Amino acid sequence: MRILKNILVTGGAGFIGSNFIRFLLAQSDFSGRIVNLDLLTYAGNMESLDDVQQFHGGSRYFFEQGDICDGKRVKEIFSAYDIDTVVHLAAESHVDRSLHGPEAFVRTNVMGTIVLLMAAQNFWKEREGTLFHHVSTDEVFGSLGNEGSFYENTPYDPRNPYSATKAGSDHLVRSFYHSYGFPVTLSNCSNNYGPYQFPEKLIPLMILNMIEGKPLPVYGDGKNIRDWLYVEDHASGIWTVVRKGKLGESYNIGGENEWENIRLIRRLARLVADKTGKSPVEYEDLITYVRDRPGHDRRYAINCEKIKDELGWRQSLDFDKGLSQTVDWYLNNPSWISRVRSGEYKNWLDRNYRNR
Ligand code: NAD
Ligand code: TYD
Repeated sequence: MRILKNILVTGGAGFIGSNFIRFLLAQSDFSGRIVNLDLLTYAGNMESLDDVQQFHGGSRYFFEQGDICDGKRVKEIFSAYDIDTVVHLAAESHVDRSLHGPEAFVRTNVMGTIVLLMAAQNFWKEREGTLFHHVSTDEVFGSLGNEGSFYENTPYDPRNPYSATKAGSDHLVRSFYHSYGFPVTLSNCSNNYGPYQFPEKLIPLMILNMIEGKPLPVYGDGKNIRDWLYVEDHASGIWTVVRKGKLGESYNIGGENEWENIRLIRRLARLVADKTGKSPVEYEDLITYVRDRPGHDRRYAINCEKIKDELGWRQSLDFDKGLSQTVDWYLNNPSWISRVRSGEYKNWLDRNYRNR
């Protein structure tokens, strides 16, 4: 088992990053420090870590606003905090945005990753006990038909700019292992859901549109399939690989929980109705079929036997509970929602954090 002291989490103000940091600080087998390097793009929100800042800020948790593409800044952070472990999550993460503006994806996902790899390599040199863990997606494997699932050795076949840039970053990370013996592990996870997800992704978007009586845009025939995992289970999967994963290896992490989009939306309608006291029909009537996403991958499904068998990881939350908790969270956090959506968040940041 690796002992880690100073972990650099990139993209820690995003959806998975903020959940991962909160998870990590609650683990009894971690007593080190976390440095969160995040540019605070539209998807990054300091408020997602308010509790963490309050309880651990300046002792075990440190926030650095900055760009992973800025080599000088990254180098300074490695040395200022004596970083021994990187958990690399920072990315442009939304497929629809990547179809409209792929350059930002190449910059952050590919260039940002090489900048981090080189900074870590320069800082660590031959030092022992270091690790660069790269967080990736099952989308690098492409699209499945009705049968089968993605294994770690499934050939890469990315089909949109987001997944292509994630595939590029995965290859770079692996190349550092093979070329230089640089210590890396990788994980490829299926679709996550849970609190603090920016409401441009399917589940939070549908919950909020239901609450606000807006149309529920279903791409194509609504029969595309995704494999959903609660974000805290992804956090525990990452932590499992970081502590116990074999160097140079990739581990699939998944929910084993496949849902057609339209069935999932109908299920959400029933759940939201339960909680608001309205009729599910009122929400289902909002379903609006819209033009399909270009190149829309049909089905994703993860085989995660490797991380289960070799490292002993398991999903802990069933979908009923996870969805219910998620709906509750979006119903109970209107100020977070309006802030991330309005852009007022940036002013709030100036008022609350800049001078601390
Ligand atoms: P997110 O969009 O919610 O968060 C990304 C974070 O990265 C934001 O806080 C943003 O400010 C930050 N960031 C963006 N560009 C940056 C830059 N140049 N420098 C520093 N910080 C920058 O994304 P997420 O859903 O939390 O995903 C995190 C990681 O997990 C990504 O690498 C993604 O590919 C991977 N992943 C996501 C899912 C999913 O379902 N969301 C599934 C599997 C893997
Ligand atoms: P998304 O949450 O964007 O994740 P990803 O594309 O990375 O899987 O989308 C999940 C699925 O939901 C995907 O098949 C596209 C579909 N979708 C819609 O039908 N309508 C929407 O408004 C969105 C955002 C997604």
